[in-house]
Amino acid sequence: MEVERVQCLASELLKELPAQFIRPAHERPENTKAVEGETVPVISLSLPHDLLVKQIAEAASEWGTLLITDHGISPTLIARLQEVGQQFFTLPQKEKEVYANDPSTGSFEGYGTRMAKNLDEKVEWIDYYFHMMSPSSKVNYDMWPKNPPSYREVTEEYNKEVLNLSDKLLALLSEGLGLESKALKSSLGDEKIEMEMKINMYPPCPQPELALGVEPHTDMSAITLLVPNDVPGLQLWRQDHWVAVDIPQNTLLVHVGDQLEVLSNGKYKSVLHRSLVNKERTRMSWAVFVAPPHEAVIGPLPLLVNQENPPKFSTKTFAEFRHRKFNKLPQ
Ligand code: SIN
Ligand code: FE2
Repeated sequence: MEVERVQCLASELLKELPAQFIRPAHERPENTKAVEGETVPVISLSLPHDLLVKQIAEAASEWGTLLITDHGISPTLIARLQEVGQQFFTLPQKEKEVYANDPSTGSFEGYGTRMAKNLDEKVEWIDYYFHMMSPSSKVNYDMWPKNPPSYREVTEEYNKEVLNLSDKLLALLSEGLGLESKALKSSLGDEKIEMEMKINMYPPCPQPELALGVEPHTDMSAITLLVPNDVPGLQLWRQDHWVAVDIPQNTLLVHVGDQLEVLSNGKYKSVLHRSLVNKERTRMSWAVFVAPPHEAVIGPLPLLVNQENPPKFSTKTFAEFRHRKFNKLPQ
């Protein structure tokens, strides 16, 4: 099936944004500007342990997002990850199409662009690449780019580092709930936890004030770890307005996703966010979703629920949660 890629459209240097990308007035960035003066908490992982637990729990409860420094992932590795991702998107179109995904048949992995299902539906100004990173039993290397040749080595190395970091964060977040440090990881499936890579690529857009790179959404994951390139665009919904997130170099952004909100019985907030695009520059971001396997049963942790704190969410498999979310059914 022929898919029109946003990157190809952008290369035509259009003066006007094609109709399927023009958001309704109430969604347009020009009408929903971010407010100034609010900043996402920045937390150093080298803080003393108890202070670190406290700060992480506060940020996860009050913001649903935190920026972390001193996370131990080397700037060189992050730069290499960004380079191999950029290199993939500069390959000739024909070579990229070899990896085209087809969500309509359930094959989500590979090179993708969302298409409008009907004339009214609006689409996002983005192409992406999505694949599993671990556990190794779920990885199909045929779905990873073979070009540039170092893609696999760099991404495997990054996977190792983010696995470590995710373990650390889940332990700190568990302690922040007053639980044993292993609590969240074990509820999410321990070694069966899935790490998924999504490379987001937002080409320059002729009328960015009318478009969205990614529509407002919360992530389905437990947590998401994100590094962007140097083009800003991520915004968070806070109370009743958007807040633009500035992500300094060598800082990693962590989102609380839906599964962590459910496990924590709403103490940690899954944050609504969107991304905007740029007129001159290509924005890119690398998101790693840390998620339970589909068969995992996720609900508020029993230790967090009692008569005064009844469960705020129903308990179900992650597969069921995904099905309901994709089909916009109530949870
Ligand atoms: C997303 O949340 O889907 C994209 C975030 C980003 O590109 O910063
Ligand atoms: Fe997201």
